[in-house]
Amino acid sequence: MTDELVSRMVAYNAPDVRRINHALKVLAYARLIALGEGIGGDELAALEAAAVLHDIGIHEAERRHGSSAGHWQEREGPPIARAILAEVVAPTSIADRVCFLVGHHHSYAAIDGDDFRALVEADFVVNADEDQMGLTAIAATSRTVFRTRTGRTLLQTLYPEAFIEE
Ligand SMILES: [Fe+2]
Repeated sequence: MTDELVSRMVAYNAPDVRRINHALKVLAYARLIALGEGIGGDELAALEAAAVLHDIGIHEAERRHGSSAGHWQEREGPPIARAILAEVVAPTSIADRVCFLVGHHHSYAAIDGDDFRALVEADFVVNADEDQMGLTAIAATSRTVFRTRTGRTLLQTLYPEAFIEE
């Protein structure tokens, strides 16, 4: 299912290479965190699909609201994700979970499961690089948001300078 979703995400976002690459990177890190945390089965399927589709509402948010702000993405993303998931015949329970994740992935207070947490951590790992975040912000987010051992270790491996005092 994930590979089919990737090819549909690429087609939907083309020629926006930056957004396509972002989704591919988040998928790869989400898988890595899932592996380390023992996330499998339907939970992994939902996590992978959500990683591929989490920002799928950006273009529609920009077109309709002139903004890619998180809350517009969260509003515009789920219906698009739902339509793409229907094309790959995703089971309803997985599609429902993916749409919830797409619709809440900027809302850290809504985190209610390992799949959600892995998605948020993977997205942050990628954004830290793409947005050239400072080391202080990375260390602070590690403390306040990161909960999985795998995610924290990953962040410390990628940004050792941010954790020198810890
Ligand atoms: Fe993202």
